[in-house]
Amino acid sequence: MIGVALVGLGDIALRAHLPALLRNPEVTVAALVDPDPARRALAAAHARAPVAKDVREVLADPSVRGVVLATPPWVTAGLIAQVAGSGRFVLAEKPVATSLEAGEKLLALPEEQLRRVQAGLTYRHDPALELLGEWLRSGLLGSPLLVRAHIYDERRDPADPAHARRVEETLRHGLPLVHEGAHVFDWFRLLFGAPERVDDAWTLATRDGLPAPNLCGVRLLCPHGTVVLAEFGWLTDAPPRCEISVLGDRGHVRLDGYSFTVELSTAAGIERFEFEPDRTTRCFDRQLARFVELITGVRHEADPGLEAGVATLALAERITTLLEGRR
Ligand SMILES: NC(=O)c1ccc[n+]([C@@H]2O[C@H](COP(=O)([O-])OP(=O)(O)OC[C@H]3O[C@@H](n4cnc5c(N)ncnc54)[C@H](O)[C@@H]3O)[C@@H](O)[C@H]2O)c1
Repeated sequence: MIGVALVGLGDIALRAHLPALLRNPEVTVAALVDPDPARRALAAAHARAPVAKDVREVLADPSVRGVVLATPPWVTAGLIAQVAGSGRFVLAEKPVATSLEAGEKLLALPEEQLRRVQAGLTYRHDPALELLGEWLRSGLLGSPLLVRAHIYDERRDPADPAHARRVEETLRHGLPLVHEGAHVFDWFRLLFGAPERVDDAWTLATRDGLPAPNLCGVRLLCPHGTVVLAEFGWLTDAPPRCEISVLGDRGHVRLDGYSFTVELSTAAGIERFEFEPDRTTRCFDRQLARFVELITGVRHEADPGLEAGVATLALAERITTLLEGRR
């Protein structure tokens, strides 16, 4: 059994990482770490494992071979360096940092440490994206493409002010396109190739008093003339739909942003593709299976490595630079 510590016991840790760790037959949860005693108590109710306040306590334990970091992104970059430096394998939540500078510092880690770090770009492991990638490579939709991504999440729930405070704190560390873009820009790079140009960008705050605009968008030019229009939004009482649509001369694909159910429309008709089990379960299980393969040596390179996490930060930085130049 491979001892894995879970560091950061917030929402995504308890909702997705801990259940995945408990489901994996090769893994034992070696420690649960969070400075907040309430989060430690909540996690300990789900899994029988030693609890700790600080990752340093865990790094003294030789049974810990891997560490999952589900911490706020402004904390994660420092922890990646600390944990990788201790000889452990690291699966680090996205975004791996909140600035390109911090991300590039991580890429300068010694090669032997860098190769032990997997970026938590969870949803790139989804079979729906693999299927879409196959269609695009085979030219099923034609080329170039018009891609429209509407990424709306983190609805403001008047009954849950603590959630709104947490999301506002995250907004203090970057626009939604920095945080959601960690996933979405990664999918664009995999599916359409690295963007060649940032043609336009905009932001909008739906109310006063927010630490940064809660809506933002960008127009990108990708290889082969593909145009991507992407918008991201948080913290409205009623968000619009969350989906990605890909239109070409011969077909149209609609990917539901939450379930990753895919609808393909061509001259031959409309087909729907659904995958089991739910998206969170299948993606966190697949991601963890790859991490276990990295730890056991079945896999020689992290899938994906840190460079993929930093590539999303590089694009986010190009966009924020364009926005700042306009101010
Ligand atoms: N992969 C995904 O699908 C997905 C989904 C949601 C969030 N995320 C990412 O996961 C990360 C965590 O998000 P969340 O919504 O769970 O946040 P959260 O605020 O609910 O949880 C973060 C936890 O980390 C703890 N923490 C802070 N500093 C720490 C430290 N030094 N050591 C240990 N624990 C520390 C906090 O006390 C808190 O309990 C973010 O980077 C977010 O972008 C990923």
